Parts: sequence; C-alpha cells; structure tokens
Amino acid sequence: MSCSSPHIPFLLFFLLLISFTLLGNSPTQHTLTNFFSSFNASIPKLEGLSISNISTSFSFSSFFNTSIAKHQQQQMAAIPSTRPAAIDKELKLSQLEKGLERARAAIRKAILHRNYTSNKDEDFVPRGSVYRNANAFHQSYIEMEKRFKVWAYGEGEPPIVHGGPEADIYAIEGHFISEMEDRRNPFRARHPSEAHVFLLPFSVVNIVEYVYKPEAKDYWGPLKRLIADYINVISDKYPYWNRSHGADHFMVSCHDWAPHLSVANADLHRNSIRAICNANTSEGFKLGKDVTLPEVHLPDGGLSSPAREQTSVDGRTLLAFFAGGAHGYIREALLRHWKDKDSDVVVYEYLPDGINYGQMMSKARFCLCPSGFEVASPRIVEAIFNGCVPVIISIDYPPPFADVLDWSKFSIEIPVGRIPEIKEILGNISARRYGVLQRRVVQVQRHFVLNRPAKRFDVFHMVLHSIWLRRVNLRLNY
Ligand SMILES: *[C@@H]1O[C@H](CO)[C@@H](O)[C@H](O)[C@H]1NC(C)=O
Ligand SMILES: *[C@@H]1O[C@H](CO)[C@@H](O)[C@H](O)[C@H]1NC(C)=O
Ligand SMILES: *[C@@H]1O[C@H](CO)[C@@H](O)[C@H](O)[C@H]1NC(C)=O
Ligand SMILES: *[C@@H]1O[C@H](CO)[C@@H](O)[C@H](O)[C@H]1NC(C)=O
Ligand SMILES: *[C@@H]1O[C@H](CO)[C@@H](O)[C@H](O)[C@H]1NC(C)=O
Ligand SMILES: *[C@@H]1O[C@H](CO)[C@@H](O)[C@H](O)[C@H]1NC(C)=O
Ligand SMILES: *[C@@H]1O[C@H](CO)[C@@H](O)[C@H](O)[C@H]1NC(C)=O
Repeated sequence: MSCSSPHIPFLLFFLLLISFTLLGNSPTQHTLTNFFSSFNASIPKLEGLSISNISTSFSFSSFFNTSIAKHQQQQMAAIPSTRPAAIDKELKLSQLEKGLERARAAIRKAILHRNYTSNKDEDFVPRGSVYRNANAFHQSYIEMEKRFKVWAYGEGEPPIVHGGPEADIYAIEGHFISEMEDRRNPFRARHPSEAHVFLLPFSVVNIVEYVYKPEAKDYWGPLKRLIADYINVISDKYPYWNRSHGADHFMVSCHDWAPHLSVANADLHRNSIRAICNANTSEGFKLGKDVTLPEVHLPDGGLSSPAREQTSVDGRTLLAFFAGGAHGYIREALLRHWKDKDSDVVVYEYLPDGINYGQMMSKARFCLCPSGFEVASPRIVEAIFNGCVPVIISIDYPPPFADVLDWSKFSIEIPVGRIPEIKEILGNISARRYGVLQRRVVQVQRHFVLNRPAKRFDVFHMVLHSIWLRRVNLRLNY
C-alpha cells in the first residue's frame, strides 16, 4: 500500500522552506525574506477584553504577592545602569530584534548551503528524512542555544503556580514548568528585559485539582477567573503583556481542559503560544502559533526513556497491538471491530493478568495510538520508546514537533473511517518498508526522552525549540 499520505495539516514552516529550496530554482534571499515576513503573525487588536473578572465568590488576587518576588528583585538590582531607563529599554529591545534577525539569516544560510555554522563542536547532527529540513532545524537549534531567553513570572504561589504534576499522564506539564524555573537552566533570562518570551507558570492540572468543584453550578467560572486574574496581575505590574497583547507569552499544559480554560483571557487564547497536549485544530488550536506538547506517561514518577532492550524487527511477531478503555468514539470503534477478534491485530480493552504492556509493544510491529476523549495519546511516545511504529488514529491532531519532524516517515496514519481495514492496511506494508519505518522510529527516540536537567535535543528542548520557532517567526513592533 502507499502508506497513508498524511492528511494532517502539518505546520507549514519547514515544508515551505523545503519547497522554496528544493522545488524552486535556486531561491533568492528575497523569497526567503518574504517568506519570513509573510509568516509574521500580525497581532490582532484588543477587542472588548474583560479587564477584571475577579469573582465575588473566589478571589485569587490575595494569592499573588503584589511585590516582586525576592529573588527577582535581587536580579534586577544586580544589573547596574547609568543610562535613563527609557534608553536602556530601547537598546535592549533593538538588541533582541537584531539577535533574532541574525538567527533568521543563519537559518536561511544553512538552508541554502545545506550545512550548519556553529562556534562549538556539535555532538549531534540531525540528519535524514525524519526531518523536514535537517539543516534548517539544526541551525535553528544552534541559534536557540546561542540566544534564546525565557522569563518566568515570579508571581503566584505553589501549588497553583510554579510547578505542577510530575507523574502520570500529565507529567510533562509540571516537569516543563519547574525545569524552566530552575536556576541552572541556561535559557532562563536574568531579567525580563532580555527575554524573548515570557512563561505564565501556572499549572492547569493543579488549578483543576485545587479549585475545581464539580458540584458548583458555574464550575468553569472560578478556574477561568483565576487565569484571567493572573494575567491581570502581570499585565498591571509589567509592560510586557500589553506591548505585544500576549503574543510573546506562553503557557504549558497537558490537561484536557487547558484549551477551554485559556479562553479566560481573549489575548491568551488568540495571541499567546499555548503549548498543550490537547491540540485539536478544530477546537481553536492554531498551527504556527500554538505548540503540540507530547503526552509522556510517567506511571511511577520515574523519568521516561527508551526501553533498555530494543526488539529487532525479526523479534516482532504481532502485527498490531492496543490495550485501553473505550474512551470516546474512536476507541469505541476500534474495540467494536477488533477487541478479542484477531490474533495478528491484538486489541484488549483491559490487559489480561500476566500480560505486560511494554512487552506487548516490544513484540508488535505496529502500535495503535487512537485518540481517547481528546486527541492526545501517551501511546505515541510509549510506542516510539518500544521501537514500535506508531499508528495514529485521530482527527484534527497535529502531532508533536511536526514543524521539524516528518511524521509520515516514521509513523502510519489511519483515518477513523478505515478502522475496519487496519489489518489489510498494515499487512500491505512490505517487510522492506517496515524495516525502514522501524529504524527511523529508533532514530527519533532521543527527541522524546525526558531528562532532568534537560539534555540537548531531548523532549524538553524540542518543546522549547517549538516555542523558539514561533518567536523567530514573529516580528513584534513593540
Ligand atoms: C505583517 O504584519 C503587519 C501588522 O503587524 C501587517 O500589516 C502586514 O500586512 C503583515 N505582513 C504580511 C505579509 O502579512
Ligand atoms: C508572599 O508573601 C508571603 C507573606 O507575605 C511570603 O511569605 C512569601 O514568601 C511571599 N512570596 C513571594 C514569592 O515573594
Ligand atoms: C559542514 O560544516 C561543518 C562545520 O562548519 C564542517 O566541519 C563540515 O565539513 C561541513 N560539511 C560540508 C559537507 O560542507
Ligand atoms: C495594561 O493594560 C491594562 C488594560 O488596558 C491596564 O489596566 C494596565 O494598567 C496596563 N498595564 C500597564 C503596565 O500599563
Ligand atoms: C467577565 O465578565 C464579563 C461580564 O460579566 C463576562 O461577559 C465574561 O465572560 C467574563 N469573563 C470571564 C473570563 O469570566
Ligand atoms: C477535535 O475536535 C472536533 C470538534 O470538536 C471533534 O469533532 C473531533 O472529534 C476532535 N478530535 C478528536 C480526536 O477528539
Ligand atoms: C492492499 O494491497 C492490495 C494489492 O496491492 C490492494 O489491492 C489493496 O487495495 C490494498 N489494501 C489497502 C487497504 O491498502
């Protein structure tokens, strides 16, 4: 079979760059410059934003200290200045913009010359067809390491702000927030004026955990007001939110409700970068602005990495494997057609006693990754770690890092309507083609590993790179 052409509307950034470089006859600087400016997400105007919705029943303002957190004050004091503040500000801003301009130029150059420029030894060089444009990605990554600075606001208290879950299926949310706030993190800005982007370090999982009351009549209300209130606090206190209407700000959440709760502030929803697991393009997720966060399942809170023993292609005796509950209509369709029906396509609703989930994934050639109640599935990363080719069965789901990784090269996409044909579609894939797909799955494993502290090209830095890329494509006229 011709392996399902991806219907997924991948983010077009590198795709377009590739077509400019490969399909077009020697692209001119002009084309690429135009390309970059045509990608300038222009910032929509503020429309009737509710200024403050601090509720009468629940006020979160008291949770925030109105004075700047202590460590931030020290850092601010540590930067001596003899120039008037206004001049300082302009200098810093134009330095930021110049740095980004140099980064853009370096990426263009890497695309044209098909090679990178770096002032240090590169311990890893992305190569191969799993990348949409390996040279562009590599250079962009190098530029990110060279200059990208992120400021995390100090306002707010744990557990709602500054931290989040670090185990179970939402673990990446807590890990990302605390890794970003770690003082040793080289991407951490020392002062907000040197930041390219601003992290809103609240945890939606913890907001739901601590504030959500299912019996309340307006159960979304307090959750949304809390987020709206947080943004009111930081936009009152600092100039950064207002100057870009939130476009250089980002939130990170793996909770299913994150997209819905982000409507709490119109600019957060419309302009900010939302790095979310529940990335559904039919539910407001904007390609090129928002970021798909991979769901990384950490059942016991331990960190996540590829299986120590990788099964070879020959050791994979099952055609396909899935185990999971009937969450949502896609899984219901899968279970209806395949549960306990076939010895090649092994589908369980509940894993029988004595059968090990990871071992099944290691024995299977393909691992079925249907969406559940929402689009994201932790099975994609689990499959990759077990060297099992993921089969994505979803609707409107742009997979993680799709601006960099070409998922059609190492995964299979099966439309929901073709669930009955799973066996035929997968059975039609030749042994030779399977070998290629499987080898590439192993090749991309490094991009999904969760390290603390983060390491080059791991999942944390891939998420950060997605955010960097969106900032590189944004020209802000502050
Ligand atoms: C870039 O953004 C500005 C507004 O910020 C807009 O006027 C302009 O048309 C945009 N350029 C393109 C090519 O879309
Ligand atoms: C907030 O205020 C409380 C009490 O005034 C103090 O104990 C706490 O350290 C403050 N938090 C920050 C982040 O400054
Ligand atoms: C690519 O660049 C690296 C470092 O600048 C250099 O060592 C290498 O020889 C270059 N490769 C090609 C094919 O030009
Ligand atoms: C940002 O805009 C809001 C709403 O217009 C305003 O209340 C706030 O004072 C502004 N913040 C700053 C720092 O000027
Ligand atoms: C804020 O209040 C206005 C007017 O009462 C309401 O229309 C809006 O939905 C509220 N916004 C939030 C985030 O609760
Ligand atoms: C994405 O959102 C659309 C619109 O709400 C919905 O029909 C679709 O089922 C969602 N996708 C998944 C996989 O849940
Ligand atoms: C499988 O391959 C056969 C023979 O090439 C072809 O006729 C059939 O349509 C394919 N089935 C699917 C589901 O791709």
